[in-house]
Amino acid sequence: MKEFVYTAQPGRVVFGTGTLLRVPEEVDRLGRSRVLLLAGPRVAAAAELLAAALGSRLVVRFAGAAMHTPVEVTEQALEVLREHSADCVVALGGGSTTGLAKALAVRTDVPQVIVPTTYAGSEMTPLLGETEHGRKMTRSSPAALPEVVVYDVELTLDLPRDLSVTSGLNALAHAVEALYAPEPNPVTDAMALEAVSAIARALPAIAADPSDVDARTRLLRAAWLAGTCLGAVGMGLHHKLCHTLGGSFGLPHAPTHAVVLPHAIAYNAPAVPEVLTRVATALGAEDAAAGVFDLLATTGGPVSLRELGLPEAELARAAELATATPYPNPRPVTPAGIEALLADAWHGRRPGGGVSRRPVPDLSWLTDQVVASFDRTPGDRERRLLTDLVRQLHGFAIRHDLTEAEWARAIEFLTRTGQISSDIRQEFILLSDTLGLSSVVDLLTNSRTPDTTPSAVLGPFYVDNPPEARHGDDIAQGLDGTPLWVDVQVTDQAGQPIPAAVVDVWQSDKDGHYDLQLPDLDGPVLRARLRTGDDGRLTFWSIVPPAYPIPDDGPVGRLLAAVGRHPYRAPHVHFMISAPGFRRLVTQLFVAGGDYLDSDTVFGVKEGLIVDFEPGTGAPPGGRPLDRPWRRLTYTFHLARI
Ligand code: BEZ
Ligand code: FE
Repeated sequence: MKEFVYTAQPGRVVFGTGTLLRVPEEVDRLGRSRVLLLAGPRVAAAAELLAAALGSRLVVRFAGAAMHTPVEVTEQALEVLREHSADCVVALGGGSTTGLAKALAVRTDVPQVIVPTTYAGSEMTPLLGETEHGRKMTRSSPAALPEVVVYDVELTLDLPRDLSVTSGLNALAHAVEALYAPEPNPVTDAMALEAVSAIARALPAIAADPSDVDARTRLLRAAWLAGTCLGAVGMGLHHKLCHTLGGSFGLPHAPTHAVVLPHAIAYNAPAVPEVLTRVATALGAEDAAAGVFDLLATTGGPVSLRELGLPEAELARAAELATATPYPNPRPVTPAGIEALLADAWHGRRPGGGVSRRPVPDLSWLTDQVVASFDRTPGDRERRLLTDLVRQLHGFAIRHDLTEAEWARAIEFLTRTGQISSDIRQEFILLSDTLGLSSVVDLLTNSRTPDTTPSAVLGPFYVDNPPEARHGDDIAQGLDGTPLWVDVQVTDQAGQPIPAAVVDVWQSDKDGHYDLQLPDLDGPVLRARLRTGDDGRLTFWSIVPPAYPIPDDGPVGRLLAAVGRHPYRAPHVHFMISAPGFRRLVTQLFVAGGDYLDSDTVFGVKEGLIVDFEPGTGAPPGGRPLDRPWRRLTYTFHLARI
């Protein structure tokens, strides 16, 4: 076993959506009352919100943080801090703002509450990189470590696509370098691999749809993990190169990280092949260096130092500066080796050759145009539904890089679904049912009270105004099947009987067919309308229903077959119950022990609807002369008051 040391950094993290407004209570928790707010112009709107929330705790603001934390800027901010006797720094912004907060903290020990708006991750580390006289110096100090970090996903939603990509790559760099750090440990390794995997999956989703909240959440969590890695173990070649290029040549921080990372990985690959195989697996790529390059290229990030404005003539000096002082790296660092690496990065060559897949174009302008076209929709709700539908549809197409052929197939499927539909065949309902959407809408609409009977989908076989039946009638009208005596009661939530409730029932015959599906049948059968008596009860004879397939000779049936699903419904009887003053209940009772209870093809089964259809004992009710086994269904429905 390899020995290791893991140092957990102290600090408190508040993660969520809308957590910006929790900053004041975090300041109070620290026992502080005079806040210096650091926030740049890019986050002006959020800064206003935060300022209002901080109220009288806010004593002064400073908006001048700059990239690579120049010491001159820190001096200015320090003066502001002292002049206003601030006793707490709140930093809202990216790595530069966080850097300034840390620079103030190492000089004064002032506590920091950091609200990151990018994926830089430096809020999780005791590291501080400052520039003075054109050189970037990095130090590690416990005083630089923020006391509280508040992650608010909402603040990242409008981070532009290019910044999201480069900032995400910056986070990826922390995770990758942590994996080949000189003193690795399993805790950091686990965090790093999780971060690599999450970043590789979240970034393409965000590049396709920058407002994808789920992907934003995953990326922000990954950035937190990656930042923790950065703070826990030493970094190697990649970070050294980026600091040199940033500090001495003024290249932008995150884009430089993005461009350099694939080449730093390629350089180290011969020294740490196993580590980079793990990185490749986490990325879902064959090769770690090429995988990172492709991630960058396909999400529209910069791929060359040339694009970032570094003159080619400076490559030799950059290599010299980056190799001037020794630092830990798995593969020995030589000026010639680094110059070759930088040349590859300058030209934007893909490690290992080949080309990346076509980049995803930014289509947000198109989505925005369509959304804007709904501006004059009279109803608020209609406009919101349409807007979100279009955003989801565009996002779906972009996320999956949908091809014209695939979309043509989908249109053809929908066309066939329409063509097979008629008054008695509703293929769109079947589609909605088998995709579970009917059940989602049903549960949202009808099943929000725990003490009422759960609802279940209506299905396509209900017919309005079914024939009236009296208590004790046989609604199977003598059809073959195991006789079933149904004895049900309808009550309110408290168990008070509801008299004169209208109860429609319908079910299939013993072969699984509804009357609508049997054109030779003479009139309706196995469907009826009954009314409850004064005691809320009603009774009738029917037959035990079997499991049956939903109509599967159309496009929906072919879809089920294509994905290896069966078309069966668990055996059930349908009920629709209405009574004045109560919400209408549409539901089904399922035969306990029946087939497909756990794989009902329309996702209609709920625990509270599975009922024992018990073997009948004693004389059959209603004096029915029966010389064969029969069953009994007893159940109480609880309706919700309106
Ligand atoms: C039914 O139970 O009648 C049913 C429900 C959904 C789709 C097909 C049939
Ligand atoms: Fe049914």
